[in-house]
Amino acid sequence: MTFKSSTAEIPEARLTPRHIAIIMDGNGRWARQRMLPRVAGHKRGVESVRATVRACIERGVEHLTLFAFSSENWRRPAAEVDTLMELFVIALEREVDKLHQNGVRLRIVGNLERFGPRLNKLIKAGEELTRNNTRLTLNIAANYGGRWDILQAVNSLLLDRGASEPISEADIASRLCLADCPEPDLFIRTGGEQRISNFLLWQLAYTELYFTDTLWPDFDEAVLGEAIASYRRRERRFGRTSDQLIEAAAKS
Ligand code: IPE
Ligand code: IPE
Ligand code: MG
Repeated sequence: MTFKSSTAEIPEARLTPRHIAIIMDGNGRWARQRMLPRVAGHKRGVESVRATVRACIERGVEHLTLFAFSSENWRRPAAEVDTLMELFVIALEREVDKLHQNGVRLRIVGNLERFGPRLNKLIKAGEELTRNNTRLTLNIAANYGGRWDILQAVNSLLLDRGASEPISEADIASRLCLADCPEPDLFIRTGGEQRISNFLLWQLAYTELYFTDTLWPDFDEAVLGEAIASYRRRERRFGRTSDQLIEAAAKS
């Protein structure tokens, strides 16, 4: 199923965000504050992922997209990249069955070509096992970049039909990694930085942004609750005026 883009049609306003996208940042600083190696922060971050998935299921969030490794994170020291890949393997080995039991559909979105055969095999098996689950779609963005995503969408369109027809907004939306999820309602970035870091460039067009100083390993249901509470206080106008929203609410 392809969802309408927020620039083509005004999405339904819901009390609970249907799709939450999170940049899980601050693992390194969390570890540093405790005089621990950075990897200790990444390990602890896996716990926060678990807690967040649980909280999203309880709150009825339908889609959760977590930025785990960006296309620019290869620039980190090789030892840290290797450890992150190892953690990714361990997390898949340990968590997939539990996710499946909880009705979670797991997907890894990003350029998987650079991951080794072991990781690719685990990813495929996890996606295959959980493909028909409907409670929560959990998208893990790994070796993902927003620009890469848009480019691969355009290139796949060109491959299919040549350059003869102009490409529309809906065409691109239909080929992005998250084509079968609605656009995120709420974006959260932990760790205090206020930037997108090449995350979902296309899909965040009308997403409500929430930045918190909480470091990712300290993120929990309470911080998620604060983010959702902030989201509920926002007026989502999608280009319209406040008066128009009041009028529309009065009519319905
Ligand atoms: C986020 O935490 C995890 C990844 C990018 C893989 P960081 O590792 O970026 O932590 P800080 O920003 O250095 O604290
Ligand atoms: C963004 O965090 C990527 C992930 C959380 C996976 P970074 O820590 O890599 O972002 P920058 O480099 O500070 O922008
Ligand atoms: Mg960081």
